[in-house]
Amino acid sequence: MAKFFSSELIAAASKFVKAIEDINLTSIAQRAVNSIKLTYNADEPYSNGAAIVPPMGWSSWNLFRNKINENLIYETAKALKDSGLADCGYKYVNIDDCWQSSMRDENGRLQGDLGSFPSGIKNLVGKVNELGLKLGIYSSNGTLTCEDLPASLGYESVDADTFAEWGIEYFKYDFCHNVPIPSMAPKIEKIIVAALGDANGTEYGAECAILTGDARIVEDEKLDSGKYITGLSSNSGSCEFPEVTVDNDGEYILTLCIRKKSNSNKYAEILVNGTDLYKTVLPATKSFTAGGRHQVKVKLNAGVNSIKIYNPIASRQDSAAVQYSNMGKELKRATREYAEKNGCEEKPIIFSICEWGRNFPWNWGAHAGNLWRTTPDIRPVWGSVLGIYEFNVLLYKYAGPGGWNDPDMLEVGNGELTYEENKTHFTLWCMMAAPLILGNDIRAFIKDDGTVDTENETYRILTNKELIAVDQDSLGVQCRRIKTNGAEDVLVKPLDDGSFALCFFNKASSTAMMSHSIKDIVCQTFVTTPLADEYEVRDLWSGQEIVCNDVIESSVAGHGVRIFKVRVKENVS
Ligand code: GAL
Repeated sequence: MAKFFSSELIAAASKFVKAIEDINLTSIAQRAVNSIKLTYNADEPYSNGAAIVPPMGWSSWNLFRNKINENLIYETAKALKDSGLADCGYKYVNIDDCWQSSMRDENGRLQGDLGSFPSGIKNLVGKVNELGLKLGIYSSNGTLTCEDLPASLGYESVDADTFAEWGIEYFKYDFCHNVPIPSMAPKIEKIIVAALGDANGTEYGAECAILTGDARIVEDEKLDSGKYITGLSSNSGSCEFPEVTVDNDGEYILTLCIRKKSNSNKYAEILVNGTDLYKTVLPATKSFTAGGRHQVKVKLNAGVNSIKIYNPIASRQDSAAVQYSNMGKELKRATREYAEKNGCEEKPIIFSICEWGRNFPWNWGAHAGNLWRTTPDIRPVWGSVLGIYEFNVLLYKYAGPGGWNDPDMLEVGNGELTYEENKTHFTLWCMMAAPLILGNDIRAFIKDDGTVDTENETYRILTNKELIAVDQDSLGVQCRRIKTNGAEDVLVKPLDDGSFALCFFNKASSTAMMSHSIKDIVCQTFVTTPLADEYEVRDLWSGQEIVCNDVIESSVAGHGVRIFKVRVKENVS
């Protein structure tokens, strides 16, 4: 054997084997798993007292895209009121992308486009409020919006204050131009704590820290101290300096002395005394020197303090969850502070998370906001409506009062959808307890003589009060699909009054006969309707009522639905 391998080769091979032995394989495997799942620990529900039932309103995006201005928004608000749609519940008038000027104002605040929103957003809020309606606005959890206008990542606090000050009551937060929080943590040689202006301060070396998880000390002759703490990345470890001692209460400069490594950004959270949290991003490094310093201002108490450093971000999901909840917290803070300062009632802002389902927001959305988009953008064609339904219908267990799955805004009345498809789209969204945000031109419902075009097919669909009641039911339960053969689905949504809504959905293009047993439905554990001899069954599109003792059978048009409200028949004695 020996003659085939040189001694150098054998030495290199044994060095390689030794290096592999030094690598903690379990921790690498754990990190790989963490990088695709949510490790972020969502705490309590968002609870801002808003969206107790799915929000209803209108948005400028689906039809008007970037062609919006303050007149269009006000005319739409007026048409919502004059047509009676507001009385049906459509109260939020939401301005989507393209309302902003490309310049922030002299105080760094967002401002309306100086040409198309010349009177300012606050003024528009006032006018819309006078109609008894509420104004919604839009930004992105990124450096720019999807239309490349200024957005709110890094400006959460100032933008939330601006919206609260304007009186905004709905906020949609998109995901374009997002910059994820790095999962890599800095490598800590030591920390220095100094009073402001003190050039020296007190040093606490790596050996003073309590290490958890993968955190460990590594020797490095390039550093003055000869060592640093590593293993803090991807939520895998922490280091805590438990005896940071200062003379007085107050602000101090905490300097993280770091081992410069790696060409990517790093992130650290610094928890002081278990209560005060500071977040900081450190740059990618391209320097000559091995050691670097990074300063953060922290508040310390006279006496002994603890300073813990870690990075809780292990995945893209963690990053999105933390960034969205940062904004959600700022919105709650801003509306509370605005009300306190001005002695007025707090106007909570419905927080609509719009990251298209990329980071599984149903896992964390109810802790960060009020609704979360589950799917990519809707389009006014049958395939888009169907595809979104197929995905969203599976997520029933995540929806409930204050936190809703959002299969996107309605396309009823837009594009290529037929009358039957429009009815189906609306019915499915009501069954799924979806937000009902209209996307069509509301002004078209008002005729030239000022009267309402009540014969308009789209109008008749959107004002079906019995359908709206199914969506808005206070139980707040999203329907479940209890049967499917791929082409025909049976959906059931329990309602607050002890009845349930039953929907037959025929996805094929030709008419189908569909049927289901009521007795089978009332035996399902999620349905509270009791077993009975007879049920009243009301067709919510035709208004027709029948009495039935078990099987409901009905013909369902291609791409169509039938929806029934089923209740126990009361015996009149
Ligand atoms: C998309 C979003 C749409 C719309 C658009 C505006 O990301 O899903 O609903 O808001 O951006 O640019």
